[in-house]
Amino acid sequence: MTGSEQAVAVAHPNIALIKYWGKRDEHLVLPFTDSLSMTLDVFPTTTSVRLDAAADADSVVMDGLPARGEPLRRVTAFLDLVRDRAGRRERAVVDTHNTVPVGAGLASSAGGFAALALAAAGAYGLSCDRRTLSRLARRGSGSAARSVFGGFVVWHAGAVDARDPDDASYAEPVTDARLDAAMVVVVLEAGPKSVSSREAMRRTVATSPLYKEWVTASRSDLVRMREALRAGDLSTVGSIAEHNAFGMHATMEAAAPPVRYLTEASAAVLAEVRGLREEGVRAWATMDAGPNVKVLCDIPDADRVADRMRAVTGSRVVVARSGPGAAALAEGR
Ligand code: PMV
Repeated sequence: MTGSEQAVAVAHPNIALIKYWGKRDEHLVLPFTDSLSMTLDVFPTTTSVRLDAAADADSVVMDGLPARGEPLRRVTAFLDLVRDRAGRRERAVVDTHNTVPVGAGLASSAGGFAALALAAAGAYGLSCDRRTLSRLARRGSGSAARSVFGGFVVWHAGAVDARDPDDASYAEPVTDARLDAAMVVVVLEAGPKSVSSREAMRRTVATSPLYKEWVTASRSDLVRMREALRAGDLSTVGSIAEHNAFGMHATMEAAAPPVRYLTEASAAVLAEVRGLREEGVRAWATMDAGPNVKVLCDIPDADRVADRMRAVTGSRVVVARSGPGAAALAEGR
């Protein structure tokens, strides 16, 4: 190689309405169930990857600080995968800027690995279509497969007996969705979570007596969710999403030892969302691997919902709408 190859990409987090929870293959990051999400237009992650032929190790800077330990290991392992596919050996300099609190259950890894996948593929000259890119991003963090695309996105788990299971598990846009909704993000805690989603999933699958039932319920939730999106029916979309999220949290609370991400502050937000519904506001909650709550509602109601959330929590509340898929910003040699 002469000179340096470089690419920059931006991607946004996505919030699942039908959750991904549990891997059937840890190495390939293959889930037990299909999941479905909405990509947001807030909290972008911008990542640049530059090849450095003289370096003997990858260097990773996250928000101005050198990454170490597990975050560095994950990025390096991901770059190894890209190098392997591209048939290249050069190490890389990765610089990433998050506008979302990292590791707090706000899907930072989804936007993060979608941006890294696109930037790394560009820098290493790996040409791939969007589906291949989503399969690649999946290896960094499962939910990142969905952030490759904008709007509503479904991630197919892939058939268990597929000839090439890696090839069969990819995300794609839900092209017939006819819904335009807001997602109000209530940031209760911005610090990293105490149990990683990886460990929590592992524990849930291995020990929770509720897990199998959730997998079955989630499959029918997805079918009904797709119908409701096609019909543009926010009430049905919201109630299925809320039910699916509570089900996911129930499976992990039944694990041994239990995994509990929701706090008293989360419970207060959830009660307020119920209260809003009793007043006739169409609003439903969903929660991921952290205490933060996201509220799906009609766009004209979003500011009112956000004000109520601020009043009850005193926390930072951000109104999001449907956002774009991962995009390349610049590429050079
Ligand atoms: O991609 P991961 O490993 O961070 O998984 C996160 C899974 C949830 O956010 C809890 C649910 C989902 O489908 O995004």
